[in-house]
Amino acid sequence: MSVKDLAIQATNDDATICKACAVNLGYWKDDFLQYFIKGKVSRKSPEINRGYYARVRAVYLAAKQFVKKFEKECQIVSIGCGFDTLFWRLKSEGWEPKSYVEVDFIDIVRKKISVLKKCPMLMSPLVASDDEICSDGKSLHSGLYHLVAADLRQVDQVSREMAGCKLSSSLPTLFIAECVLVYLKPAESLPLLKFLAGMFETCIFLNYEQINMGDRFGQIMLENLEVRGCPLAGVEVCMTKETHERRFEEAGWDKANVWTMNEVYHLFAASERREMENIEFFDEIELLTQLLEHYCITIAWKDPKNIGLENLVQFCTPM
Ligand SMILES: C[S@@+](CC[C@H](N)C(=O)[O-])C[C@H]1O[C@@H](n2cnc3c(N)ncnc32)[C@H](O)[C@@H]1O
Repeated sequence: MSVKDLAIQATNDDATICKACAVNLGYWKDDFLQYFIKGKVSRKSPEINRGYYARVRAVYLAAKQFVKKFEKECQIVSIGCGFDTLFWRLKSEGWEPKSYVEVDFIDIVRKKISVLKKCPMLMSPLVASDDEICSDGKSLHSGLYHLVAADLRQVDQVSREMAGCKLSSSLPTLFIAECVLVYLKPAESLPLLKFLAGMFETCIFLNYEQINMGDRFGQIMLENLEVRGCPLAGVEVCMTKETHERRFEEAGWDKANVWTMNEVYHLFAASERREMENIEFFDEIELLTQLLEHYCITIAWKDPKNIGLENLVQFCTPM
């Protein structure tokens, strides 16, 4: 494992700690994240907490709308899943898809499996009926949930591991990549996106990552990450809405729409946003706006039967 890959994997610790800080303050409910935390959760600034709220809420809304639309007859594949808990949050509300697959580097997968095995709260939701959980420590499979190891830069590895998850090529499938593709060079993410587009007839891709990285704020973000030994190899795609859209269209997806997180934030129901904003006093709104202008959500789709995937995700829906 290279030093750079170790630094990339460490971004999962950052994401987990930031999410835990916001959860502890009451930004959203997550009864499962605590099991992935070792040690003390340091307090983050209000703009970071609000930024994570927008990210987690938007991904949750999209996943729930997707599972609802297909009445659970669908699949979710989370690439670069880290210690994300979306599967458990959906399942606890009765909105789990027919199959849920998580993929990450082997070391992250081993750690996640080890946490799962120690925790009945995490293990028991994995079983659909009377099926068994099989795990060799490097992967875990149940009838409902699969956790597998692959380097996303190696499409053959991704293909082999996903084949073991017994997904159906005809069920609608949602891919989620939350701060992941940016660690791959465009020459590495393009074959991956092409391969994933070709795997399923009807599919959606939700990608959360940086945007507007060419401006001064973006350059400072990049410099900070370089200092930490974790350069953003895919940054050239993270410039504008057009660069994000184009990458999916070049990879064989029908089309893509992009929202900055500032746009997503202001689409959330006003009452919900007010409640969240009351959690912590914060009057430096420009700071939050600037941060949210540097992240975006892209929704790309492949919809040969015209079942309305283009307009499926609505961030304004109160849930
Ligand atoms: C910033 S973390 C985000 C984790 C999770 N998606 C979340 O939002 O909480 C990025 C994750 O992508 C994974 N990742 C990045 N590049 C990868 C690659 N080439 N193969 C497999 N996983 C990768 C990292 O190991 C890490 O878990």
